[in-house]
Amino acid sequence: MTSSTGSHATGRKAAQLRQAAEDAFAEEIAALCRADDRPRPPNWRMSPQAVVTYLMGGRLDSGLAITPKYIGDRRLMEVAVATLATDRALLLLGVPGTAKSWVSEHLAAAICGTSRLIVQGTAGTSEEAIRYGWNYALLLAKGPSREAVVGSPIMRAMDEGRIARVEELTRIPSETQDSFITILSEKTLPIPELNEEVPAQKGFNLIATANNRDGGVNELSSALKRRFNTVVLPPPATIEAEIAIVESRVASLGRAFEIPAEPPGAEQ
Ligand SMILES: Nc1ncnc2c1ncn2[C@@H]1O[C@H](COP(=O)(O)OP(=O)(O)OP(=O)(O)O)[C@@H](O)[C@H]1O
Ligand SMILES: [Mg+2]
Repeated sequence: MTSSTGSHATGRKAAQLRQAAEDAFAEEIAALCRADDRPRPPNWRMSPQAVVTYLMGGRLDSGLAITPKYIGDRRLMEVAVATLATDRALLLLGVPGTAKSWVSEHLAAAICGTSRLIVQGTAGTSEEAIRYGWNYALLLAKGPSREAVVGSPIMRAMDEGRIARVEELTRIPSETQDSFITILSEKTLPIPELNEEVPAQKGFNLIATANNRDGGVNELSSALKRRFNTVVLPPPATIEAEIAIVESRVASLGRAFEIPAEPPGAEQ
């Protein structure tokens, strides 16, 4: 890539309505990686302790302040990060607006550098969206080959040893949810048509979110439940925590829309 398209790409990223966590907090992530001298699990960009600091905030020896991303119980974030370092997947459960997607995005960004390997769960999510599909033009022209396989974000995460995210897991029909069982227990994604498989590299794991309030959701089978550690994110415990969340949100939205942020009137 030439430098002119490089700076063009950077300019385009800065102009995005909403930046990915790894772009919005690139400086903090880079500083945490540099300052980190603790052991890192294979393929992690930083140690589990540094990921918790990234989420809860803190100050580095260099003087750089890490902004708190999650306002609440530190213990919950420690359990979430510890889960991802094991072979259990992480399920963030809670009522709407309790920062499940927000925490999932920041965890993926800090651990593997991208929060974009994501599958949105809906009633229409197909197995292809979880496993792989085919480029039918290539399939017809050349027959089944690795070239013709269109991998899902989960297949890419397995192949690259990164974190994949599944939003709203319980909206996915139960039969389709079963695809996750092989992925999570065998740590491999078979492609029977080619008599091949995509083994998960070290560092692969899954963060799913689910809402426990919505009607019409599909229960997780007990086989799948066993492959997840569940962390329940509660609504803010105190009015001070709620005010802190709103203030940090208003400040960052104000920055994105280039509106000078007035602190909201908490007293009225
Ligand atoms: N404890 C918290 N700490 C920091 N921010 C929070 C907290 N709770 C909520 N927020 C803010 O609320 C916003 C909404 O949260 P998010 O979209 O992650 O909710 P969700 O739990 O995924 O909800 P849904 O079930 O509707 O998908 C986040 O962007 C975040 O800024
Ligand atoms: Mg969400």
